Amino acid sequence: MASGDFELAEGTLLGMGNPLLDMQARVEKAFLDKWNLKENDAILADDSHVAMFEELDKTHEIEYVPGGATQNALRVCQWILDEPHRVTFFGAVGKDKYADVLREKASAAGVNVQYQVNESVKTGTCGVLLYQNFRSLCAHLAAANTFTIDHLDVEANKAFVEKAKFYYIAGFFLTVCPPAIMRVAKHAAEHNKIFMMNLAAPFISQFFTQPLMEALPYVDILFGNESEAAAFAEANKFDTTCVKEIAKKIAELPKVNKNRTRTVVITQGDEPTIVIENGEVFEFPVIPLTKEQLVDTNGAGDAFVGGFLAEYIRGKPVADAIKCGNFAASTIIQQNGCTYPEKCEYQP
Ligand SMILES: Nc1ncnc2c1ncn2[C@@H]1O[C@H](COP(=O)(O)OP(=O)(O)OP(=O)(O)O)[C@@H](O)[C@H]1O
Ligand SMILES: *[C@@H]1O[C@H](CO)[C@@H](O)[C@H](O)[C@H]1NC(C)=O
Ligand SMILES: *[C@@H]1O[C@H](CO)[C@@H](O)[C@H](O)[C@H]1NC(C)=O
Ligand SMILES: *[C@@H]1O[C@H](CO)[C@@H](O)[C@H](O)[C@H]1NC(C)=O
Repeated sequence: MASGDFELAEGTLLGMGNPLLDMQARVEKAFLDKWNLKENDAILADDSHVAMFEELDKTHEIEYVPGGATQNALRVCQWILDEPHRVTFFGAVGKDKYADVLREKASAAGVNVQYQVNESVKTGTCGVLLYQNFRSLCAHLAAANTFTIDHLDVEANKAFVEKAKFYYIAGFFLTVCPPAIMRVAKHAAEHNKIFMMNLAAPFISQFFTQPLMEALPYVDILFGNESEAAAFAEANKFDTTCVKEIAKKIAELPKVNKNRTRTVVITQGDEPTIVIENGEVFEFPVIPLTKEQLVDTNGAGDAFVGGFLAEYIRGKPVADAIKCGNFAASTIIQQNGCTYPEKCEYQP
């Protein structure tokens, strides 16, 4: 396996996010229409979706797989690394079977899972509705939504935050606990550590603009895909639809830690990934796949980030990190859900 030039310390990377159990089902167009869901989207469930989950459970075959954007990325990252517990994860779950499944899968992957447990609520779930090659996500956060900053005040957890040198938080967590995000972001800036986020979904830029723009000055590396970048551009009145221009403008937005410029990484499905590094634009092609190899793109973006992180936290340059991101995404796409073969065969 790939090994860096130095031994990676335990807890080098810390992630925070919504631990969700994905309920994956293949549905018909009529089902999406009935519940007002777009073919390709990621939304938060509201009260109107409770009945949708019930109907799905009654009328469709559901496969349960561990999910949650940040936790997926961390599982993939840890899969690529040689030793367990290089990665720590915070998020909130209930005290139920779903939480056990999530903890077990993430731990098996080697992630040091430190959940905040709220006994009075259920563990979050995410409807993953597959229709043709499309995928509609509907997240019912439940316990994940009850995460509080108190979790960071627990002595053991304080130590995890201090020990880490890199932080990754998908934008979805902006809907849950901005104070926790800001605490970690400021710690990173004060100690010249690397703080990374993901635009996560168009609705984050559209409806959570304020917490997003408060966190952004602390972001050293920002990930996203083309539609998320477009939503960000619109929310910030960028007056351009060109992905390279948008990425460049995001990189140029104000930054607290002036010791390094902001890196922006925008994936575009099978099109090249756009990277802004030190103000310069780079393009990195993806690994081409045939139609037959393309099984399920769910989790491609998370896997890409996981692969990127695995190399980046070992001190590798961005170009090497992108290469590993493409490898991870390509692997996950060729299986159902955000899953991978037992052994990682990555050759840097
Ligand atoms: N059709 C494809 N062929 C080859 N690689 C792909 C394809 N789709 C996605 N990938 C890989 O996955 C990466 C991320 O893809 P994409 O931009 O679709 O992310 P995303 O939309 O955030 O993913 P998600 O489906 O998880 O929301 C790409 O940069 C590439 O490495
Ligand atoms: C658990 O969740 C409930 C319901 O949202 C909330 O009122 C309560 O404050 C949470 N408890 C803790 C310890 O976070
Ligand atoms: C920025 O870099 C300088 C020199 O490398 C260092 O002395 C300083 O502590 C860094 N700033 C922060 C916020 O760590
Ligand atoms: C980008 O991600 C969103 C979810 O945030 C998804 O709906 C969309 O299909 C993705 N775009 C591409 C080109 O993969």
